[in-house]
Amino acid sequence: MTEGTISATFDVYRHDPSRAEPARYQRYTLELTPHTPVLTGLLRIRAELDPTLTLKYSCRSAICGSCAMQVNSKSRLACQTQIGPEIARHGRIVVEPMRNMPVVRDLVVDQKPFWRNYDRIQPHLILDPRRPMPKGRENPMSPEQVDRFKETPRCIACAACYSACPAVEADPAFPGPMALAKLYRFVVDPRDTAAQDRLVRIQPDGLWLCLRCHLCTEACPKDVRPSERIRDLKELAIGAQGATEFGSRHAVGFKESIRDRGLLDEMLLVRKTYGVSGMMGQLGQGIKIYRKKPELLKKPHPIPGVEEVEGIYAALDRPEAEGGAK
Ligand code: FES
Repeated sequence: MTEGTISATFDVYRHDPSRAEPARYQRYTLELTPHTPVLTGLLRIRAELDPTLTLKYSCRSAICGSCAMQVNSKSRLACQTQIGPEIARHGRIVVEPMRNMPVVRDLVVDQKPFWRNYDRIQPHLILDPRRPMPKGRENPMSPEQVDRFKETPRCIACAACYSACPAVEADPAFPGPMALAKLYRFVVDPRDTAAQDRLVRIQPDGLWLCLRCHLCTEACPKDVRPSERIRDLKELAIGAQGATEFGSRHAVGFKESIRDRGLLDEMLLVRKTYGVSGMMGQLGQGIKIYRKKPELLKKPHPIPGVEEVEGIYAALDRPEAEGGAK
């Protein structure tokens, strides 16, 4: 082996849905330096070992977003992921297509579901037609206003977040992390006149399916931190419309339980989430919990020092700690 190189084993997902053969993993071994990007390794495989390997790329500089794929089960840009740390950690490099989208062939997926969900949030400024911008005039924003969405323009639409998202996997109608991060960007843009409408419409559309696992933020190669933008959207949505969905009612119940008792009151949480009549539907679950852990269904006593918790809430509720839609 040449000095400074390592033996890199790639197990690459191979599948052509137009043929009857099932998907398989094909093993290739190459001698590469540890700093070699996974994409370069795959291109060497295609050039030297197997010209039938299908993959997508363009800039090779983490700009275009087209080389996103699963590398050792994480959504990554192949051009930005070096083989050395992957081999050190996993002993090999397992390369698969992105998840939550149908495979076209090998490492290439059909991104239509991702773009359809993006389109649904109306990813453009909606201006007031009664107040058209005078011709030749700009509509300037202050630096503070721009600061509110400074992360989202970094997005390169690689779909790594969409691939990593378990909520998309559970319900393909969930708009996905990128779409929601972009929605946030328009909601807080002072030039957009549809913030209230956008917030009302997105709630039944699955905003609350996000369980804050942060896998999208971990996957994002540009530090857009979509899960934080979704958190901000949830706050704004409750502010705009109140707690109208199971998810928002659950969040408010959680908050009130911690504020008032310093710990979680399971019964209060169920009542807040489903309402008194809706609790009947949870009866079976309640009986199971009662049999296993009856103490969970008792009203808990406030923890000693709960006033300190209340003080934290009061500080957070002060106007200067709050963010508004605009
Ligand atoms: S090839 Fe453009 S981001 Fe990787």
